Amino acid sequence: MKALVLLVICGGLAVLAVQDEAADKVDKRYTRDGGISFEYHRYPELREALVSVWLQCPSISRIYTIGQSYEGRELLVLEISDNPGEHEPGEPEFKYIANMHGNEAVGRELIIFLAQYLCNEYQKGNETIINLIHSTRIHLMPSMNPDGFEKAASQPGDMKDWFVGRSNAQGIDLNRNFPDLDRIVYMNEKEGGENNHLLKNIKKAVDQNTKLAPETKAVIHWIIDIPFVLSANLHGGDIVANYPYDETRSGSTHEYSASPDDAIFKSIAQAYSGLNPVMSDPNRPPCRRNDDDSSFVDGITNGGAWYSVPGGMQDFNYLSSNCFEITLELSCEKFPPEDTLKNYWNENKNSLITYIEQIHRGVKGFVRDLHGNPISNASISVEGINHDVTSAKDGDYWRLLAPGNYKISATAPGYITVIKKVAVPYSPATRVDFELESLIERKEEEREELQEWWKMMSETLNF
Ligand SMILES: *[C@@H]1O[C@H](CO)[C@@H](O)[C@H](O)[C@H]1NC(C)=O
Ligand SMILES: *[C@@H]1O[C@H](CO)[C@@H](O)[C@H](O)[C@H]1NC(C)=O
Ligand SMILES: [Zn+2]
Repeated sequence: MKALVLLVICGGLAVLAVQDEAADKVDKRYTRDGGISFEYHRYPELREALVSVWLQCPSISRIYTIGQSYEGRELLVLEISDNPGEHEPGEPEFKYIANMHGNEAVGRELIIFLAQYLCNEYQKGNETIINLIHSTRIHLMPSMNPDGFEKAASQPGDMKDWFVGRSNAQGIDLNRNFPDLDRIVYMNEKEGGENNHLLKNIKKAVDQNTKLAPETKAVIHWIIDIPFVLSANLHGGDIVANYPYDETRSGSTHEYSASPDDAIFKSIAQAYSGLNPVMSDPNRPPCRRNDDDSSFVDGITNGGAWYSVPGGMQDFNYLSSNCFEITLELSCEKFPPEDTLKNYWNENKNSLITYIEQIHRGVKGFVRDLHGNPISNASISVEGINHDVTSAKDGDYWRLLAPGNYKISATAPGYITVIKKVAVPYSPATRVDFELESLIERKEEEREELQEWWKMMSETLNF
């Protein structure tokens, strides 16, 4: 606050104020807790923090980039897995993406802290964390909009503007920049048509689209390349777990917009909010006095019921891939003072871990032919839920589902569909494998049977 006032009075004094803050920061480096330093990380510090986790836990981590921001900063990801760099058949993949709005800074820091925490606890022998890392490939992206963050963070003082740094460096709001697949699926609901994987030849279409920001393009490629099952997208400005759909069917501003997977989306959103004492507090006053949060129940909300967002990342995940994503709003202030970060970590730590564990719910298994060869891109359909998922390269699939009894089928072109009845508990996921007979083999069998029959008949009738 002080620095901001000084800036208005005199530029020279503001520089002094910033220097004072830098000195302040050195002190805060010692506010550590098990190797976690609760401070804001500018771009070089973010890289250092990720490298330091990697150096500490090289056998379970890897750093990679999915591309560059408009100003050329890397979109860094820290992968945490017992087999870094590889998809293991049957092991689901998870991602957290934070800071797509560059000025919403809490999520960015929580993801850095989470990386450090997972590494520390793994080394300490914490069984929960070891099991999680051995059964899940976890991808952590602290910032999807590093340019926006630098802009927001370079404002002096603790008081940050509500909008500065929200967009990328081209002025594009990344959470309105994804192809609007909701419109297509809403049309298909009426007229019949695909209910999943709505962009065919997606990479070409994406590369040719000049309206997409480089950050958006990079994330789209990432979503298509990796068989993600579950994801969350971290924001700030309010406190709630928001689930699909984000865009309303009618186009009105507020309207409950259920996806076919409303039940499981509510359940996983609640798994997050339930462990965050602030988010789940029914008596929490709205962040600002005039905010309309009448759609919030138990710390969760349907996106459309809150307010309609076309072109968002959450619905894009669900409608273009097998990945289920929710949006987490973590703090009333978008860029709160640094000394509150530790508190945000304490509020969200259990939620962040438990949410990753939600990936082990529903039904999972393999789709293979009768000789045990994997069948990729088979459709897994659930009766009564108009949204299919597909099998990955090794024939492995994951189908998140709320508890209940289901009829599930696996279909692939050239094969005979198999339907199975399955009882699904809250967790863990029920293992269901499918073996599909190919139509060619079935015809072969039928011909052989016919020949056999013919031979028998000829012998019986003696001609
Ligand atoms: C292990 O990690 C879990 C999940 O974060 C945590 O709840 C638990 O307290 C940790 N156990 C120990 C012994 O620290
Ligand atoms: C996957 O299967 C669907 C439906 O059978 C088909 O339209 C699509 O082209 C297939 N995709 C790939 C990558 O083979
Ligand atoms: Zn946001």
